[in-house]
Amino acid sequence: MKIGIDEMRFATTPYYLSMTDLAHARGEDPNKYLIGIGQEKQAVVPPTQDIVTLGAQAAAKLPADKLKRVRTIIVATESGVDNSKASAMYIKHLLKLDDNIRVIELKEACYAATAGLQFAKGMVTLEPQTYVLVIAADIARYGLNTPGEVTQGAGAVAMLVAANPHVMTIEPGAVSYSQDLMDFWRPLYATEAMVDGKYSTNVYIDFFQHTYQRYLQQTGLSLEDFTALIFHLPFTKMGKKALESLLGDRDDQVAKRLRDQLKAEQVDCRSVGNLYTGSLYLGLMSLIQHGSVAAGDRIGLFSYGSGAEGEFYTGILQPDFHDHVEQLDGPLNARQQVTVAEYEDMFNQQLGMKPEDIEFDLTKDHSRFLLAGQRDHQRQYVDRDN
Ligand code: COA
Repeated sequence: MKIGIDEMRFATTPYYLSMTDLAHARGEDPNKYLIGIGQEKQAVVPPTQDIVTLGAQAAAKLPADKLKRVRTIIVATESGVDNSKASAMYIKHLLKLDDNIRVIELKEACYAATAGLQFAKGMVTLEPQTYVLVIAADIARYGLNTPGEVTQGAGAVAMLVAANPHVMTIEPGAVSYSQDLMDFWRPLYATEAMVDGKYSTNVYIDFFQHTYQRYLQQTGLSLEDFTALIFHLPFTKMGKKALESLLGDRDDQVAKRLRDQLKAEQVDCRSVGNLYTGSLYLGLMSLIQHGSVAAGDRIGLFSYGSGAEGEFYTGILQPDFHDHVEQLDGPLNARQQVTVAEYEDMFNQQLGMKPEDIEFDLTKDHSRFLLAGQRDHQRQYVDRDN
């Protein structure tokens, strides 16, 4: 039975910051951010958005008849809003889905959405008539004036996993690899990540090489068998570093094709920033929209989460894949640009770990789902359509 991704939708915040503006404010050459890191814009998060609202925003765009058939919701995140309650519970409520549903939250840095997809595949194998909703939702937050600041971002990718999927089947034979490392982490008392940035990029490449080479050994496939290789993109240069670690000096047609496809993957990621769990899947949506891909093509996907875990797996694009993936040019172009001062203000207004009651101003953020504030230690969510 073919199982895989049936639909893909995306949501981000209504605001973005230009990386040229950030570079000027931080005394850096803009080309360091635009070329050296490879980021052009970054999603800016108002206090009225969190991973619950972003996840609900993305999932609400899925076809209603398919949402009704969802029997499990998996939310993959490393920026959860509660140490106990799964964000999937809030999202289920906001989407008004049936109570006869299993909900759960998964965590392993930026890798967890890939685990979610593989678990979902197993669930659909057992119950082929059902859909599993996998949401990768995150807010990448490194802190003002830190080296990681340019690699922040936010958003959610909502994916339905089903039998006979419309977008991409997930092939068997995924290679996972994990080691207990401290390249990036966030202790329970911290709202910003701690990161050994250079180390994390080295571990990422090592894990990519390890999982990719092992995958080739197991399957007998070679580089020529991939129409595209796509990568978790904490910043778009990272994908280039990983791909070049494979291609080296190669300048033939295969190498040229893979470089072009990576550029297609990078388009939307350059404009949103790091989504942590969702980055690889925003990259897949971007490849489908901007790349040179056709039904039957094999895509290689490298998923990486600090701490650290990597997985290389492959998928085959299905006949009408294009019609089941949201086109993002419109929504991304509709965002409002903010100044560095406005960004810093929103950054500092986040609810974070504040224990007190608070009510946010809802007049500026026109998103459907909003975090209205906190009362008696309970987050208050609003659905504008109700
Ligand atoms: N024009 C063009 N490129 C420039 C430049 C300029 N004026 N100035 C610098 N660069 C290049 C550098 O050569 C470097 O390129 P390279 O990585 O190919 O060698 C790149 O820009 C970054 O410069 P660097 O000085 O290394 O940046 P940094 O010390 O500020 O740190 C990160 C960069 C990515 C390590 C930092 O942003 C970070 O910690 N990010 C979060 C961690 C992360 O995302 N890890 C990924 C794995 S999950």
